[in-house]
Amino acid sequence: MDTVTKFACQALQQGTAALSLAHKQLANQAADVFAPADRPAKMEVLPISEDALRQVNDRLQKLNATDIAEAERGLYPESLLFDRPWFDIAAAYPRIWLDMPGIWDRSSRKSYQEFAEGIDKDGYPGYYLQNFHYQTDGYLSDTSAELYDLQVEILFSGTADAMRRRILAPMKTGLDRFSDVEPVDIRVLDVATGTGRTLRSLRGMLPKAKLFGLDLSPAYLRKANALLSELPGELPQLCQANMEELPYRDEYFHAVSCVFTFHELPGAARQNAIDSVYRVLKPGGTFTVCDSLQKGDVAVMDVMLENFPIVFHEPYHSNYARDDMEARLEAAGFEAIETYDYFASKYWVARKPEVAAEAE
Ligand SMILES: C[S@@+](CC[C@H](N)C(=O)[O-])C[C@H]1O[C@@H](n2cnc3c(N)ncnc32)[C@H](O)[C@@H]1O
Repeated sequence: MDTVTKFACQALQQGTAALSLAHKQLANQAADVFAPADRPAKMEVLPISEDALRQVNDRLQKLNATDIAEAERGLYPESLLFDRPWFDIAAAYPRIWLDMPGIWDRSSRKSYQEFAEGIDKDGYPGYYLQNFHYQTDGYLSDTSAELYDLQVEILFSGTADAMRRRILAPMKTGLDRFSDVEPVDIRVLDVATGTGRTLRSLRGMLPKAKLFGLDLSPAYLRKANALLSELPGELPQLCQANMEELPYRDEYFHAVSCVFTFHELPGAARQNAIDSVYRVLKPGGTFTVCDSLQKGDVAVMDVMLENFPIVFHEPYHSNYARDDMEARLEAAGFEAIETYDYFASKYWVARKPEVAAEAE
């Protein structure tokens, strides 16, 4: 990477982090004036020391440096480092402010199953029908889908895509096992793909592969379709379904990913989803998961993990944060399970055995 490009990328990383921080400070000040004083986000959060904030910032810098380094070594194109939906961000920002009073209101009433009239709630699992993050209409409206990416970027100080991209290196290593397969015949599925941000990065790394994305939300899939249609090459195939029962045939995919979703599932659904991924993976295929850090992974982040479900409605996060995901992956049949972490995320890489274990 030439020096100017690297400098521009670092400036973008620092700029988005600073803008996110400025927004959070402004939003907190606005909440102090306009929001109900007894909301949990104000009453119950644990304080974070200056030293802890410095260490958190060090983790953010390390993540951003890795994002540049992996582009430099050719894992994905440098252009991905600049891939931000600027038009969407500009359009969503004022709407985020307009949406805030509703979030404060739901938060102070601890009300998290509110959906606009006319939203079809039939056919979804009960755990899904919630205002995760107190967001308006949960995952079930176009407005929610329009605001989601910016909300996540603000939450993660501009690093959401950098965290998503940390699944790419181990997935590439896993795909090396299929070096005899033509690149156009490689099939990769991103489950709970949301607005398709992970698929955009996957397309950067695998320009010829057949990409698939699955999600329960029609609104988020509509948004994903719009964003992915901008990219050259074959359009990823999008499917609306429950990740607990993937509607694909056995042993179809060479790799599967899942980003930022297991913490929003109850334990039983987590296991069903892992079992389902195992079924649709080819022997030797890789499953790569990116999700929130868990309790005890990184001492300095534990306070944040305690605060997260208080500030954002996250009913399954506390259970997830203590869940033994390795045991779940092993129970499904996965082997060679590895974990690592970057900034606020933890990663699991698991392989389906070449020869499936015989059922007892
Ligand atoms: C926090 S978002 C993560 C989206 C995306 N992976 C990302 O990186 O931004 C959680 C996503 O999981 C989807 N989801 C939740 N439960 C699901 C289920 N049982 N089956 C399929 N999708 C589900 C939601 O609709 C939402 O798009």
